[in-house]
Amino acid sequence: MEDFVERSLELARSDDHVPPEDLPEDRAERQIERLRELVAAHARRYYVHDAPLIADAEYDALYRRLERLEDAFPQFEDPNSPTQRVGGEPLDEFEKVRHPQRLLSLQNAFDAGEVREWYDRCLRGLADTPFEDAAPPALAAELKLDGLAVALTYENGRLARAATRGNGRVGEDITAGARTIQSVPLRLPVPGARRENGTAPPEGPERMEVRGEVFMRKSRFEQLNERLADAGEKPFANPRNAAAGSLRQLDPKVTARRPLSFFAYGTGPIEGDPHPDAQHALMRWLGRMGLPLEEHTARFDDLGEAIAFCERWADARDDLDYETDGVVLKIDDFRRQEALGFISTAPRWAVAYKFPAREATTRLTDIEVNVGRTGAIKPEALLDPVDVGGVTVSQATLHNEDYIRERDIRVGDRVVVKRAGDVIPQVVRAVTEERSGDETPWQMPRQCPACGSELKRLDDEADWFCFNGECPAQFIRLVEHFVSRGGMDIDGLGEKLAVVLVEEGLVEHLSDLYRLSEADLLPLERFAEKRAANLVAAIEASKERPLARLLFALGIRHVGRTVAEDLVANYPSLNDLAHSSKKELEAIDGIGSVIAESIADWFAVDENRRLVDDLRRLGVRTERLPREAPADESSDDDDALPLAGRTLVLTGSLPSGRTRREATDAIEAAGGTVTSSVSGNTDALVAGENPGSKLDEARERGVPVWNEAQMEARLEGKREEA
Ligand code: IVH
Repeated sequence: MEDFVERSLELARSDDHVPPEDLPEDRAERQIERLRELVAAHARRYYVHDAPLIADAEYDALYRRLERLEDAFPQFEDPNSPTQRVGGEPLDEFEKVRHPQRLLSLQNAFDAGEVREWYDRCLRGLADTPFEDAAPPALAAELKLDGLAVALTYENGRLARAATRGNGRVGEDITAGARTIQSVPLRLPVPGARRENGTAPPEGPERMEVRGEVFMRKSRFEQLNERLADAGEKPFANPRNAAAGSLRQLDPKVTARRPLSFFAYGTGPIEGDPHPDAQHALMRWLGRMGLPLEEHTARFDDLGEAIAFCERWADARDDLDYETDGVVLKIDDFRRQEALGFISTAPRWAVAYKFPAREATTRLTDIEVNVGRTGAIKPEALLDPVDVGGVTVSQATLHNEDYIRERDIRVGDRVVVKRAGDVIPQVVRAVTEERSGDETPWQMPRQCPACGSELKRLDDEADWFCFNGECPAQFIRLVEHFVSRGGMDIDGLGEKLAVVLVEEGLVEHLSDLYRLSEADLLPLERFAEKRAANLVAAIEASKERPLARLLFALGIRHVGRTVAEDLVANYPSLNDLAHSSKKELEAIDGIGSVIAESIADWFAVDENRRLVDDLRRLGVRTERLPREAPADESSDDDDALPLAGRTLVLTGSLPSGRTRREATDAIEAAGGTVTSSVSGNTDALVAGENPGSKLDEARERGVPVWNEAQMEARLEGKREEA
């Protein structure tokens, strides 16, 4: 084990050491210094590498001890202490900062031919320079992250200033907000960076500007939106907007709560230390100092290979946990870059190969409304089928009435349809220039399409609702939600079958699912004995799902996965939760009055209470598992989980159709961790269909590769145990 891990554990676990207040000043100072290094090193392992070396509780112990010492010895205050990330007072406005060297933009190339043309222009540009006769210039290739460009200035190894790109010459001072981003180093070299690599990191120049991208991981973005929605706030449209909205916050405390990340991709002015003379080497040099890098960077001597890299990533980009919109190719050698120079705002020596758009235009033939599980009425566009970045799309969401009205989208319009990452397709806008005059504006129906009852729109809601508690469409959606992978995860019971079960009258209440017998199923179409037996067994197995899953599956408004977990951490059983008051609920971290009210209201309905009793009587787990209890009650329970301590990476689409998110949930429930890329810490790669480049990486590194069935087998261990 690494030396700093041992020391950390020693410090974290010993609770008999001298109370910090009683230390002599010189020892306090040394301990503070030491703790700052340890905390920063572990934070880096956690936030940057996604591979912590100590338990969260141990990290917390170190952090608290440091905080206590700093409180007792304010004379050693340092704005670059890891405890000082979350701080700072709200600003009235951002100060403007002039960049010492302009932040440039990039020329674009939309296919391999345009990349070749760009490279030819570079070759011509190098004619009549000392580099004319040398071998064709090598290329650095980097994924182009879709976030916000920032410039971080380090002075004597300390983060002194952070600024947005702005117009390239003048940006905004976002130092306070940037400090709250855990992957932005406050000090360079980052403590612990040396020990990770064996070799000593560069000391770091006196003054250096690091440039890079602030962004939000897709997984964190989803969690953030869930949290915002749970709190009744407006979710962000995409990770980029979420990153921008979070960074440009005058109150750094808000930024601190937003899960932002940072990757470096270059430097501005550097004073002092010598630094590498080529882009790819510069990146490695930055990495050795502890700056976080996107890890799929490469260097190619051959243009064809660089183009192959671009094309490979165009297919594999969905495998990453962050959005990329292209690959940046740069002439690697800085002397050649200098010889090439700039045209207006972009360097000649770099080009952005843009991935094919995931947008297309087609005709909107009709708008249909669907009834959601909560009764919300969702308008959906029916489209002439169109290929959007390799997927045929014939339906897309239109969100709500205001969305359609604000964009003046009409039936018959040509519309732009967009597919972003794993998100469902949406209609972005109408191509109004192409109207013939036959298009018809759309009206939200006044009656529920399923039950005919009158629809209502409440003052502060964007959606119209069907308030009929017995509306069959709502119940079907609820059953679909209940059995879904994120819910009770009943294998073999999908949306189609849910409809049949409800329409055939076999399921009138959720609890009826647990009353289904093989004899009930056999008369249904396409049900042979084996399928019926399998389904009954799958339903039976779902009785043992963790309580948080059941709670989520019940479909209580505002109770997403995160809220369900928070609730279960505070209430050992559904029965306890049912008897809690709105006030008690509100006292829980992360639960506001809207959520509390929704939960209390739900349990106040007789039918819902009966449902809970019914489920319990039928043998469904309504008490939490030991591992669902707060950490200190179950500290060593995790070791018993089948994937405890294992780090897995996912690639390709899983044959069962389960999403990345669902697979991640399952792995985490089994004690494992999922990271976005293969590294020395990866225990196995789970490869589905059309695996990305991660498969090659895993093979190169000798990392075991599992198919979904093999992963399933590992997860099974958990089920038997639970
Ligand atoms: S180089 C040559 N490298 O793309 C100077 N930019 O228009 C241009 N970006 O918003 C920057 N990843 O923040 C460079 N690996 C990368 C990048 C990258 C993302 C962004 C950059 C800027 C835009 C350039």
